[in-house]
Amino acid sequence: MIDDSTTAGTDTASTPGVPVLTVDALTIGIGSRNNVKSIVKGISLSLTPGRIQGLAGESGSGKTVTSLAMLGLLPSNAVVGGSIRLGDTELVGMSHRQLNDIRGRRIAMIFQDPSSSLHPQLMVGTQLTDHVKRHLKLSTKQARAHAIELLERVRVPNPDEALSRYPHQFSGGQRQRIAIAIALACDPVVLLADEPTTALDVTVQAGILHLLRDLADERQLAVLLVTHDLGVMSAIADDIAVMRHGEVVESAPRQAIFSTPQHAYTRELLSSLPGAEGFQEATQ
Ligand SMILES: Nc1ncnc2c1ncn2[C@@H]1O[C@H](COP(=O)(O)OP(=O)(O)OP(=O)(O)O)[C@@H](O)[C@H]1O
Ligand SMILES: [Mg+2]
Repeated sequence: MIDDSTTAGTDTASTPGVPVLTVDALTIGIGSRNNVKSIVKGISLSLTPGRIQGLAGESGSGKTVTSLAMLGLLPSNAVVGGSIRLGDTELVGMSHRQLNDIRGRRIAMIFQDPSSSLHPQLMVGTQLTDHVKRHLKLSTKQARAHAIELLERVRVPNPDEALSRYPHQFSGGQRQRIAIAIALACDPVVLLADEPTTALDVTVQAGILHLLRDLADERQLAVLLVTHDLGVMSAIADDIAVMRHGEVVESAPRQAIFSTPQHAYTRELLSSLPGAEGFQEATQ
């Protein structure tokens, strides 16, 4: 692990079992002054080191907007209320400059399309080392060694050679692995993963999900896994929150969601899973 104790104003040393990021009564509206559309209507959830918090729900329910709020990446006409705390630091209302410091460094994100986290015209090595050189003040040689270590960890073949290749020279699954390596480069405490496998071939999805699971365990990362697909959740999430129309309608450990869903909407989502009948037993 890299010592980043110099980070100013973010007391986020992670303690097992203690939430590192806490969302409390979060509201998000988007629009102009007299026409603000309410999108997120007072949701609460927390992310804990080593645990994967799933966020499920239909398209348009507010999952992505919620995760963008945690990064301070909402459009400028968004109105945010409530609280998002990283350790002791309140992120709602924080300046762009302070948020820039936290983003990528304390809270990292991967997206559905790995290409959106990767620069098409920069070599993978540049993208991996630029971050760490700037944020962690490593020498070129140290940054390169760190990059190779990360690529090895996410199982990109021939990491040494991979550093001097461009994103388009990799498969979709490998690109997502590289995006994960970049996300982890500055040793964040929180990883937000928004539909990280949706754009991938089904044969490579499981590999990416298991990698996220292993990384959460090894690095005590607090992970938010956003997906509309409860099947994906069932593979790796510890806890699941179900969103609908900007509200969390149910939130519980994975097993309880699958074995004893309380809300009609959760039951509806579960019944749409392929092989839904045998599913409850398989998850016990
Ligand atoms: N920049 C924006 N301006 C206006 N409305 C927006 C903006 N971004 C999102 N919305 C609206 O906010 C609501 C929630 O969108 P969001 O992208 O969070 O949904 P989601 O749950 O991630 O859906 P999906 O599963 O399709 O990704 C939608 O009604 C969407 O139209
Ligand atoms: Mg989304």
